[in-house]
Amino acid sequence: MLQQVAILGSTGSIGTQALKIIQQFPDRFSVCALATGSNITLLEEQIRNFKPEIVSVFNEDQAVTLRRRVADLPVKVLTGAKGLVELSAWPGVDVVIVAVVGFSGVMPTLSAIRAGKKVALANKETLVVAGEIVMAEARRHNTVILPIDSEHSAIFQCFHAGGSGELKRVILTASGGPFLGKKREELAAVTPEQALRHPNWRMGPRISIDSATLMNKGFEVIEACRLFALETSQVQVVIHPESIVHSMVEFIDGSIVAQLGLPDMLLPIQYALSYPQRWPNPFPRFDWDRNHTLHFYPAAKGEYPCLDLAYQALQVGGTLPAVLNGADEIAVRSFLEGRITLMQIPALLAEVMSRHEVIQHPSLEDIVEADCWARKETERII
Ligand SMILES: NC(=O)c1ccc[n+]([C@@H]2O[C@H](COP(=O)([O-])OP(=O)(O)OC[C@H]3O[C@@H](n4cnc5c(N)ncnc54)[C@H](OP(=O)(O)O)[C@@H]3O)[C@@H](O)[C@H]2O)c1
Repeated sequence: MLQQVAILGSTGSIGTQALKIIQQFPDRFSVCALATGSNITLLEEQIRNFKPEIVSVFNEDQAVTLRRRVADLPVKVLTGAKGLVELSAWPGVDVVIVAVVGFSGVMPTLSAIRAGKKVALANKETLVVAGEIVMAEARRHNTVILPIDSEHSAIFQCFHAGGSGELKRVILTASGGPFLGKKREELAAVTPEQALRHPNWRMGPRISIDSATLMNKGFEVIEACRLFALETSQVQVVIHPESIVHSMVEFIDGSIVAQLGLPDMLLPIQYALSYPQRWPNPFPRFDWDRNHTLHFYPAAKGEYPCLDLAYQALQVGGTLPAVLNGADEIAVRSFLEGRITLMQIPALLAEVMSRHEVIQHPSLEDIVEADCWARKETERII
């Protein structure tokens, strides 16, 4: 049966790759809905190619312009945060791919879950800031959340090798980003261009900078705990510069199961869409006719301050992970604008976290408020 897909963030790195997968499988998927922030030039191209029934543009002026440009087509154009939420629950949609960046993923993900849609989740921030609420809603509505993040897709695949009571821990691999092995002094004058140049992955700006500070890995630790109901002590990070082993699961008998593949998001996106099946594809494969050497190093405590902050936020819980994410969104933007250095990011995040009065068992409103507070506080300190 043809599945109707909605892509939130269709003009981004994950969104455009998701459209490539859909093009590979025209008998299985059709695009019903697309949403973006403001890039209406690419969105118009996507509308003309994929003929969605409905689209949403966050920026209201751009939505008005787009309505004029696509007046010859039977497509409905929504706008704003409300538009994104409405589109996520659109009646014709079967699967919602959440590939927007940052806090903006929370409300549409909840909307899709409450409408009973299957959710393919790339937006890790949703689980970082509101993971407990989101997972509880998914259980209540019997909704499946399938991970797109390559590490979580790997863990999800490795889990199939044992029962839930047989798990010892998961080992999240981290490439270490573009500055692996560099001394703190060498990082003092790093430019945004250097920080954006990830050695293995082509990604959007926020996640690229978060990969350079290892904040991204910290968020993935929180994401793993929320998604798979793990204790903090059950998630260990290991540096693996080649990004071939996407993550591993260790079982109680000492057996370790790993998932390998080229560093390419097409495979985890496809798996989230094909699960529980696997489908053939023409994507490049790992070449076993060549020699390879893979390296693994422990991610020592104290060496990666952003990773330590994420463990701290996870352990304290409540509104603290939302504060960490909100502060990081502002810190990353400020670094890209040249207002702070890369090395100032962890100290800034630690300062904002230390000023926050944590609310335990927060409501969604508490989380929204904590996020707003963290953004303002970070701006104020900068
Ligand atoms: N890229 C990867 O390889 C990768 C891997 C694992 C996980 N992820 C996660 O996937 C998510 C997306 O990452 P990305 O690298 O694809 O980001 P990206 O390239 O920056 O793309 C972000 C997308 O979200 C849209 N967007 C931003 N704010 C929006 C809003 N308020 N309403 C509607 N749409 C909005 C953008 O639209 P405009 O183009 O109009 O701005 C764009 O389509 C992030 O949470 C990231 O952590 C990414």
